[in-house]
Amino acid sequence: MSHQETHEKPRPSRRDFLISTGALAAGLGVAGHAPARGAVEKLALHGGPKAVTVPDGDAAAWPRYGAAEEQAILDLVRAPSYDPIGKLEDEWKDFLGVPHVKAHFNGTSALASMFFALNLPPGSEILVPSYTFFATIVPMRLFGLVPVFVDINPRTLNFDLEDAKKRLTPRTKAVLPVHWIGLPADMDHISEWANEKGLIVLEDAAHAHGAKLKDKYMGAWGRMSIFSYQMSKPLPAIEGGMGVYQDENDFQRATAFGNYDMPGVSPEGGYFKYKGSGLGLKFRMHPFAAALARCQLKGLVERNESGAQQTRQLNDAILQLPGLYEQSSGRKDVQRLYYAWNMLFIDEREAGMSRDKAVEALKAEGVRVSCTHYTLQHELPLYAEDKWWHHKPEIPDLPGSRQANATCTGLPYFTKEVPELVEQYVAAFRKVWAHQKEL
Ligand SMILES: Cc1ncc(COP(=O)(O)O)c(C=O)c1O
Repeated sequence: MSHQETHEKPRPSRRDFLISTGALAAGLGVAGHAPARGAVEKLALHGGPKAVTVPDGDAAAWPRYGAAEEQAILDLVRAPSYDPIGKLEDEWKDFLGVPHVKAHFNGTSALASMFFALNLPPGSEILVPSYTFFATIVPMRLFGLVPVFVDINPRTLNFDLEDAKKRLTPRTKAVLPVHWIGLPADMDHISEWANEKGLIVLEDAAHAHGAKLKDKYMGAWGRMSIFSYQMSKPLPAIEGGMGVYQDENDFQRATAFGNYDMPGVSPEGGYFKYKGSGLGLKFRMHPFAAALARCQLKGLVERNESGAQQTRQLNDAILQLPGLYEQSSGRKDVQRLYYAWNMLFIDEREAGMSRDKAVEALKAEGVRVSCTHYTLQHELPLYAEDKWWHHKPEIPDLPGSRQANATCTGLPYFTKEVPELVEQYVAAFRKVWAHQKEL
């Protein structure tokens, strides 16, 4: 899907708009029980009462550790061992239903090992979004690999396959989509095209622990993939990561890169002879992190589901407002998750007010909202300097990525049940939209 096709919703008629906002003025209240305030009241920005009065406290706090995590760390302090690492690997392998995994000290080291495992000739190109964390891209440099920046769809924040097709060259060897804040990229379409062109499919699933497309876990689509267990992520271990490998040889090579002791590597493979010397690095996960990840894995599916359900309640109500969109591919066959942000987009023309003004008014109402801007990798100095690259990456214009940054509006992702707060957020949005002409 190209960035021009942005899942436009039909523009609401004036009547729909009055129904969605005027309900308040007519005394119907929000979600059935809030008082008939809102639209008739002055904006908080202009001296009126705030729509959000419930304290948000720790509503978006993360990670949420409890007695189980405390006990697991205490047990390790009392009886130090590396055991949790192997146990976590077994559990993660079972969870995803994949043949090989390797625990890492973070997602970045898992990515570096994955690029090493590719064993591609220097100058090989990898199609990757610029709208991502540095770690998806920069470690390529260490192996002579060259990132080719692909645009994103500004409404999914994910890899735009149509844009990628235009960037194919005889040197293209792999694709590396990211599942941004838990929304699965179109791995079925991407894999189909990549297979047709003989490209290796990789995944950065750093944000997508437990998300699915067509009932298959993200991270299980590519030949290799990685997860981050850093503390903001859906499976937080404060710092940690995991590599996932469909092929035995990739697993062995990736493991050899950062493990002189070759845990899990079979003596029959080509890498076992390096046991004892390794290849120069030590990427072993800290057992504290493995212990935390094991505890967090237990409730992962339920946490993802209840968080998504609450986000749906909020978004289903506010997306009735003109010009307001959410990060979505519109696909029915994805099971997404959320973390950190509930990302919305404001189309200023349809909303009849600027994003900045809407955000300012929402903030005044007590909504924790911000205009979010994500650093685009291709705009950073590192990519413009020859000396760091086998050959210097091309610096393209990526209008979808620019549009995302011009429209992104981040709400917090609530990590516990806060129905009253959700209701008041809905009221705040309706109130601001009802006053849109004053903004
Ligand atoms: C998309 C993406 N890939 C990779 C990583 C790297 O993970 P880590 O922070 O565990 O090194 C992150 C971390 O934020 C990320 O957001």
